[in-house]
Amino acid sequence: MAGNERLICGSGALPDGGRAVRFEIAYRGATAPAFVVRFDGAVFGYLNRCGHRPMELDWREGEVFDFGGRSLICSTHGATYAPESGRCLGGPCNGTPLVRLRVVERGGEIYYQGRDDG
Ligand code: FES
Repeated sequence: MAGNERLICGSGALPDGGRAVRFEIAYRGATAPAFVVRFDGAVFGYLNRCGHRPMELDWREGEVFDFGGRSLICSTHGATYAPESGRCLGGPCNGTPLVRLRVVERGGEIYYQGRDDG
């Protein structure tokens, strides 16, 4: 295990295209909500903050996918994001992506390893 890794959850807690597991990270001097999802078999982590306004995406805890399970969607005004990159796909995020987090799946567990933006 790397020095700054933190266990988020077991692999079985993340169904593909299903409910996210929420956790918290230190972000710019405060505690901020984050989530991890599984999409096409891989795990991806993001700050739980929309690119439109600083709102959490979930409409109910962990519900961040659209009904088809192919895009992440913000419950407030409907911005959509690519699950594998956080790229804004449409709606009021207007090109602003989600903040991506480094997560890794190993030995049946999922770990947070830090942020890509430093
Ligand atoms: S706050 Fe997410 S779409 Fe507006």
